[in-house]
Amino acid sequence: LNIVHIAAEMAPVVKVGGLGDVVTGLCKALQRRGHLVEVILPKYDCMQIGEIDNLQILDVVIESYFDGHLFKNKIWFGTIEGLPVYFIEPLHPAQFFLRGNVYGVHDDFKRFSYFSRAALEFICQFGKKPDIIHCHDWQTAFIPPLYWELYAVVGFNFAKICFTCHNFEYQGTAHASELASCGLGIRRLHRADRMMDNLNHDRINLVKGAIVFSNIVTTVSPTYADEVRTAQGGHGLHDTLNLHSLKFTGIVNGIDTETWNPFTDPFLRFHYNADDLHGKDDNKDAIRKYINLSTKNPSQPLVACITRLVPQKGVHLIRHAIYRTLELGGQFILLGSSPIIHIQREFEDIANQFQNHPNIRLVLKYDNALSHFIYAASDMFVMPSIFEPCGLTQMIAMRYGSVPIVRNTGGLNDSVFDVDDDAIPAQLKNGFTFSKADELGLNNALERAFHLYTSNKDGWLQLVKKNMRTDFSWNSSSVQYEKLYLQTVARTTNSEF
Ligand code: GLC
Repeated sequence: LNIVHIAAEMAPVVKVGGLGDVVTGLCKALQRRGHLVEVILPKYDCMQIGEIDNLQILDVVIESYFDGHLFKNKIWFGTIEGLPVYFIEPLHPAQFFLRGNVYGVHDDFKRFSYFSRAALEFICQFGKKPDIIHCHDWQTAFIPPLYWELYAVVGFNFAKICFTCHNFEYQGTAHASELASCGLGIRRLHRADRMMDNLNHDRINLVKGAIVFSNIVTTVSPTYADEVRTAQGGHGLHDTLNLHSLKFTGIVNGIDTETWNPFTDPFLRFHYNADDLHGKDDNKDAIRKYINLSTKNPSQPLVACITRLVPQKGVHLIRHAIYRTLELGGQFILLGSSPIIHIQREFEDIANQFQNHPNIRLVLKYDNALSHFIYAASDMFVMPSIFEPCGLTQMIAMRYGSVPIVRNTGGLNDSVFDVDDDAIPAQLKNGFTFSKADELGLNNALERAFHLYTSNKDGWLQLVKKNMRTDFSWNSSSVQYEKLYLQTVARTTNSEF
């Protein structure tokens, strides 16, 4: 198949969260399966340009429409981890992607609407004939309705559209008049069953539009797919998802097992695998020295948390885990930062409080290299999310021999299975889980983990080794995407819209 992915992030060149990892990991896996896979991204000024191979500007100018005018776009081309990638640089006076940041700019809605329209123009004007256009998250969610309203009518070989939502909390809503900027008719799309927000009736909702106008809609785990079809978990989109449930599925993400391999990881000084864990002990010793934690007791458990500090991740429970770990006699390291000022401040206060503490360290920033070191050095990995579409870090932790302690929601429920739950087959058991999003639940899981670690060293090591040998790669999930693509390509009509 000829597959074009369109997204706002792609690791390691532009990555804010798991979306970037998924785009790269899934595309590489599909490419390995013999498909022609290409990616379209905005050309941000803040990209890690050194990670792009053979970056060059193409000798084409693509024109695209916005706000009633035509603008020119430069197109750059390069490869990222062997994948061909096109970068769109708008020659628009608002300089949409020269803002120093991927997100969080006042006109994000406009920036990504512009990009969505320009990406489609590029596909058409450059003569690309994809079988599948795969869009990710709200930033590219304008593409499915735009495609069916304005582009599919002129082509003969229609592409089919797959939309993956990585987090239904972010939907891309704006006043209905914004439709016109992209040249879309309010008349047809203004209908309640099309793009209008379910809760706020004078606003359009891009993720809703993408659900309605895509051939395939996926999210990133089966449990999350169930949760978002309920009023409690649906962020206002549950009715829409239920109406379109035949084309909606949850496919759990994989991780890139080349990037995340403790035996070859270039960020690690000490390498190790499930047959020989000495390197893991060495990493633990080294990180304690590096961040100035006590090294007196090598078998004092080291608990880690690596996360963006946003409410979704259960920040109050993360804070609680720090104190409870201390009481239980462990060590805790937190790596992460918050885009929300009061949360960042709150954790800065905790960091200051424990500044020279022998057992607690908070590193409040994004640091990819340090994250590798922490996965390798830690014994346990805490993830008390309130909701979690998939979550990648619990899988990375397991691959690095750090045992996950998680709330059983969304993708965590599909990837972490409690060691003490008799209903779970022994071969699946891999961590500690709790259900209620409160301190008691977390205490219980954390205490059980500490108990196994301190009272049954062999049992603990067996668990660590089994987790390290589990296949978390994209192999089986990419096959599921491929199946969906093939099924939808085989259907010749597009009468569904
Ligand atoms: C979002 C979700 C996270 C998921 C990631 C990749 O960041 O919050 O759960 O793993 O996307 O799909």
